[in-house]
Order: sequence, then structure tokens, then C-alpha cells
Amino acid sequence: MPPNSPRIDISPSQETIPPVEPCTLVIFGGSGDLARRRLIPALYNLLLDGLLPPTYAVIGLGRKSMTDEEFRAAVRDGVVTHSRQALAEDKWKDFAQRLFYVSGGNEDPNTYASLKSRAEDIERNLQLPGNRIFYLSIPPSSFTSVCEGLEQAGLATKPGAHTPYARIIIEKPVGRDLASAQAINRVTGRVFDESQIFRIDHYLGKETVQNLMVVRFANSIFEPIWNHKYIDHVQITVSEAEGVGTRASYYEEAGALRDMVQNHLLQLLCLVAMEPPYSLDPDVVRNAKMEVLRCLRPITDQDVEHVTVRAQYSAGTAQGAPIPGYRRENGIHPDSTVETYVALKCFVENWRWAGVPFYLRTGKALPHRASEIAVQFKDIPQILFNANAQQPQPPNVLALRIQPEEGLSLRIVSRVPGTRAQTHPVEMDFQYSDVFGRPSPEAYERLLLDVMADDASRFMRRDAVEASWTWITKILEGWHRQGLRWLPEYQAGTWGPVEADRLIQNDGRTWRTL
Ligand SMILES: NC(=O)c1ccc[n+]([C@@H]2O[C@H](COP(=O)([O-])OP(=O)(O)OC[C@H]3O[C@@H](n4cnc5c(N)ncnc54)[C@H](OP(=O)(O)O)[C@@H]3O)[C@@H](O)[C@H]2O)c1
Repeated sequence: MPPNSPRIDISPSQETIPPVEPCTLVIFGGSGDLARRRLIPALYNLLLDGLLPPTYAVIGLGRKSMTDEEFRAAVRDGVVTHSRQALAEDKWKDFAQRLFYVSGGNEDPNTYASLKSRAEDIERNLQLPGNRIFYLSIPPSSFTSVCEGLEQAGLATKPGAHTPYARIIIEKPVGRDLASAQAINRVTGRVFDESQIFRIDHYLGKETVQNLMVVRFANSIFEPIWNHKYIDHVQITVSEAEGVGTRASYYEEAGALRDMVQNHLLQLLCLVAMEPPYSLDPDVVRNAKMEVLRCLRPITDQDVEHVTVRAQYSAGTAQGAPIPGYRRENGIHPDSTVETYVALKCFVENWRWAGVPFYLRTGKALPHRASEIAVQFKDIPQILFNANAQQPQPPNVLALRIQPEEGLSLRIVSRVPGTRAQTHPVEMDFQYSDVFGRPSPEAYERLLLDVMADDASRFMRRDAVEASWTWITKILEGWHRQGLRWLPEYQAGTWGPVEADRLIQNDGRTWRTL
């Protein structure tokens, strides 16, 4: 750790925490993977950090029949395995008493009647005011039926000055193209007011992603050079080490473009490229991001072949274990043309970013899990220390790492000590865990607290969801018209297909090694 960056210990209770009112969180899909691995552990950590309201209840909902006790035991396992902080028996006991389960299908009107009477009982017993958050941790095909079920049961109360609040959290993906996203938004938007709807993209809850605005707008050195005059290009990478695993049926309907680019990568791009918002008001920030989506140059049928690459992994090794090629995975169609890798080049057509390419790439079965935004600055003139055209100086790069460890580094060129005028690139490195003496909260902790506090800044607004689908749907249509029966392949455990290397090398650039 550098001597001028002393370790700073900030306890959660020292943070400025927004006030949160007592509430009931209803998780549709309470028996599912996301609830067990992420949502319940996130709530438990909020409890340990003293951030939950003084009284609260959590009701899980699913078709599977379970008692409250069975539900508590099932999610306890998830906390033991996935919680950021270890399970403490006394705290768990208190937390578990506030977990309940209701079984029923999303399409069955009786489910909503049972949910309503159970919620009212629980709220009476725990002296809760009836504020409710409905978390749709279910397949997107069920989003509209749940909204309609809530509406018919009188559970979707509109905002009012003296009524308890009702809020709804919608998991990604919101649809699978523009038309389906609009259909979901139409129903959710009829049943709930936009101010009640929180469309989650958990990337927006990650510390480094939140820090991006701070880096840009709380430091005087970056903003003056954050434009086409000084920036050569931007690379955004989200790599996953595992293959399709147990999510075959979902992935066959999605693919990397829908699963990762439409939401996570485009949201990161918006944060890098947006104009300074005039305040931190959620809608002001979201307007600034929305402008970026509006400025994205559409990828036409003619362009799609030149600026996008899609591919599938072939047999290889993922996380040290052999995996079959994508088409041979369980549950995958043997002729599938679903992409497990995408790389693309795009442009934000405004004054600030004129001519600056943004290279995006994401894939499964890559060498390791990593997410990074790298802003590469322009080369210095070829004089003085850069006079040798055969050995150009490496450019400055500001890299913001989102995972696995969160932090940022700035590459600069330095003199090598000695008598010869030799230079070498060095990294100025900052890691969150080194400086702020505790691990960052998980994204879902931050985001669940945001919903309780009615802060929508880190959630996707309806117009942004539809704008990003508009852009993505054009690529999907271009791909469809290409009619490929085979996609290029890359061996599992490598950094993607040669076609992706060519995409960037044709511009005289290279992908960063992560
Ligand atoms: N897992 C992740 O890491 C992750 C990450 C980002 C987004 N997501 C999104 O989050 C959502 C949930 O993902 P997941 O991984 O938890 O899926 P999952 O493990 O398949 O769980 C789905 C849940 O939905 C319930 N469900 C499905 N159909 C239902 C119906 N007709 N009526 C009542 N309950 C129904 C299931 O309960 P029963 O089987 O008991 O009916 C189960 O609890 C999906 O939209 C997914 O795309 C997941």
C-alpha cells in the first residue's frame, strides 16, 4: 500500500444512510437460485450492518410447497455458502423469525388472495405499516401475470400521501427484444406508476460502477481530458469463466448480446460517456445516461458484419475442469446458433465522443471472471521519449476494475533508474479493499436498500430499457438476416475467437490482457 494512502476504516453506521421505513419484502421466485444465492444473503448482511429498518418481514413465494421452517432451512444454506459475512447464530435466529413462505403459481388468482391474507397477518403480528416491495425474481415471461395478479388482488396500490407504499422490483432481462420489452413495460406501467417500478441491473450497485461518476466528477484532472481530443478509445470487458452450466434453457433464449450487452455493458458505456448531470437527482442522472443511448450510432445490416463478432465456445477447460463445446452442453440444441461471446465496436455520436470507438466484449468460458472499463488516451507525439517509431511508448490507460477485486489503475510511463535514458510503463494502483478496511457491500445489498429508501438513481428507467433494446434489436435483426448456421468458435478457456482480435486489430489496436 502506498504510504500516502492510509487505510481508512469506515463502519457502515458512519455512512450517510438514507432513512428506511419498516416494510414487507415479497420475493416472487423465493425458492429460486437468485433468492438463495443473492437476495436473502444481501438482506442478512444489511441486518448485520444495522441497515435494515427496525422491523420488517420477508415472504418468499413459489410453486414448490414448503413450510416457513423448510424455507428458512433452504435459504440458511444459501447464507452459509454465499454471504459476505459469516453466519452468526444469534443474528440468524432473529432474522429467520421474519422469513415466511407462501406457495402458489403466478398464474393462479388464489395465490394473490393467500399472499394478501398472509401478509396482513404477518404485518399485524410484527406491527408493520403495510409498506410492500414485490421482487419479481422469476422468468420474464411471468412479469405481466404477476402484475395483473397483484392488481386484481388490490395489492398494487398507487402512491398516495397517506397510504403505505407499494413498490415493484423487476429483474433483468426486461424482455428479449424491443417488442417484448414494450409489452412488459405497458402492463407494469399500467398497474404501477413509473415511480414505483425499480428495474434492476445489479452492475449499477457495484462499488466501482458507483465510483465511476465520482472519479469523473469529483476530480478536476479527468473531466478536461474526457473527450475525443485526448481519448483514443474505450474498451469495456465483462468475462465469465463458467460455461452455460445449469442455465441452458434460459441461455438458449438469450445469448450473450441479450444477457450481458443489452443491460450491463450498455449501462457501463452510459456512465463512461454521459455528460455531467447538473445534480444527483435520480431523474437528472438517468436523463444524462439516456442521452448517451440516444446518441449510439445504429448498427445497420451493412455494418453488422464489420463491427460485430459473435461466437460459441468449443470444448476446452473452464475453471480448471473440462467442458464440452456449447452445442454439446446439456439442454442445448445441437444446431444452436446462440452466441456465447460477442465483441463489437460502436460510436457515441456527439461532440464529446466524435470518432472515438467503444469496443465492447463479453463471453462465457473465458480464462477468468473479470470486468473492466479501460479508457486509453492518445499517443504522445513521436519526439523526445517517443522518437523511436519501432518501439512506441505505451499509451496512458485508466482502468476501472469492477470484478473480481474492485479498484482502479492508471498506467503512466516512468524513467528507469540508472544512467541510460530508459523508460518503462508503471501502474498507479488503488484497490478498495486496501484503502477502505472492509470489503465492499454486495451490489444487491446496496440496491435493496435503495428501493427501501425510494432512491431510483441506480435503476433503469422505462425509456432507457426501450432505447437500449431499440439499438440491440437492430443488431439481432442484422444477425437474423445473415442467417448463419455455424458461428465462429473459440476454445473454452481462451480469450475469444480470432475474429474478435481482427475486429480491433484492423483499427491498429489490441484487446487488453486481463
Ligand atoms: N440467478 C442469477 O444469478 C440471476 C442473475 C440475474 C438475473 N436473474 C434473473 O432473475 C430471475 C430468477 O432467476 P433464478 O436464477 O432465481 O431462476 P430459478 O432458479 O429458475 O428460479 C425461478 C423461480 O421462479 C419460480 N417460478 C417460476 N415459474 C413460476 C410460476 N409460474 N409460478 C410461481 N413461481 C414460479 C420458481 O419457483 P418454483 O420452481 O417453486 O415454482 C423459482 O423460485 C430470472 O428472471 C433471471 O433471469 C438471475
